[in-house]
Amino acid sequence: MIDRVELEKLKKVLKKYGQSSLLAFWDRLNSAQQQRLFDQLSRLDFAQLDRWRNDFVLNNTPFKLPVNIAPAPSYAPKPENETQRLKYDQARQLGEKLISRGKVAAFIVAGGQGTRLGFDGPKGDFPISPVKNKTLFGIFAEILAALFQKYNALCPWYIMTSPLNHQQTLDIFSANGYYGLDKQNIFIFQQGTLPNFSIDGKILLSDIDTVASSPDGHGGSLLALYKSGALADMKKRGVEFISYFQIDNPLVSVLDPLFIGLHALDGAEMSSKAVTKTGPLEKVGNFCLADGKVTVIEYSDLPCELAQKRNPDGSLVFNLGSIAIHIISVSFVERLNKEGLSLPLHRAVKKIPHIDDQGNHVNPTTPSGIKLETFIFDALPLAKKSIILQTIRSEEFAPTKNAAGSDSVETTKQMMIARAADWLVSAGVKIPRKADGTPDCVIEIAPSFALTKDDIAAKQDKIPPIKPGQSVFIA
Ligand code: UD1
Repeated sequence: MIDRVELEKLKKVLKKYGQSSLLAFWDRLNSAQQQRLFDQLSRLDFAQLDRWRNDFVLNNTPFKLPVNIAPAPSYAPKPENETQRLKYDQARQLGEKLISRGKVAAFIVAGGQGTRLGFDGPKGDFPISPVKNKTLFGIFAEILAALFQKYNALCPWYIMTSPLNHQQTLDIFSANGYYGLDKQNIFIFQQGTLPNFSIDGKILLSDIDTVASSPDGHGGSLLALYKSGALADMKKRGVEFISYFQIDNPLVSVLDPLFIGLHALDGAEMSSKAVTKTGPLEKVGNFCLADGKVTVIEYSDLPCELAQKRNPDGSLVFNLGSIAIHIISVSFVERLNKEGLSLPLHRAVKKIPHIDDQGNHVNPTTPSGIKLETFIFDALPLAKKSIILQTIRSEEFAPTKNAAGSDSVETTKQMMIARAADWLVSAGVKIPRKADGTPDCVIEIAPSFALTKDDIAAKQDKIPPIKPGQSVFIA
């Protein structure tokens, strides 16, 4: 039952902020629908939303480029001198120790919609492996099982979903028997949402009793980890470091001892992996040092002259691209939340289904609504210390974002095959090749067989000869 006084209070607030249209259909709602809408509206902070409406909806506050901007320092993929070699060895050993003591958890952000992929369902359920057609969730689960064997230690798995795919994700895990993993060690939780706006600053309704909203971006993971109890669960288990990555990248090294070790040795709070960009305008975030702090500037925000700027040797000045792989200290997430976490908002103009002022459903064919999001990498400058480790693209980055073209299902599969071929070559296996040098075969290596190139060397005698055109699953 809705308290009359409370309803009047809400009406006043809505009027004050020019959002009375949210109650336009109130008299048409039955009492359950009224309660539903009332509850949603009562949870919103209209004063805050009004500030965002002014800054990001009505006026698109332009991105402010930091004054002091320089390339960010980074660790090379391989040590470049003896001192570094010793540090890398020490870091790798420390990383292995932390993993085998259960101090590291795997964390996937999977709340996105996968619209570009044209796949109806959680992206994690997309089949991607080149021979067995295993799904992204299936691949990560097998990697975690193999890590358990390798380190004789448990790595709990945290997965962030959103209201768009939470129930479906739970159903997929249940239908697949948790991919053979212990259900107790998989923690699936939802991120928050933010209301959608029309171009003229009205909060949209998706139905007469429902506020239109979208997931609050992967930056929302920092809050969701805390609010959902995932962080408390990590602390209970003694986890100190979170290995963060995106659902779309099956090549990721889920637990990389070197990366974890360097992060811990240097006392960093949040660290990142980077690749050398394919060109000045590649659509990845750019690592920079902004006012002395490691920062990612999205490709769309980095002025062209800076993106194109070159060193005397011809290399790009800003040559490090973000591949959305991070190590985040549990204590950092806790600190941010206790200090009142607030990441900057980013605006995106999108096709947002909503109802018009007559209550008719509208499915726009052109982007006409505003969605607000926060990005995880905006937490980097908040870290007291942040390191960057460069990695080799062909070893660790093959995002599946599009149905065709670049960063597509096809390119991801090709990169999975190419990496498998490269690992086999390093063990002396002959790979049949096409005239253009690409493998003339389809290869998939089971994570239980090898998690890294080094794991292959010891198993050379178990690898069958590969014939041209053959499809081989190595397990
Ligand atoms: C992102 C990065 C880009 C990086 C690239 C690497 C941004 C703005 N850009 O690009 O710097 O170089 O990845 O592949 O992030 N997600 C959620 N909740 C949300 C939104 C997204 O969990 O509310 C998850 C998605 O499920 C996905 C990941 O975040 O796993 C990335 O989202 P996506 O929209 O695909 O990012 P990109 O724009 O492709």
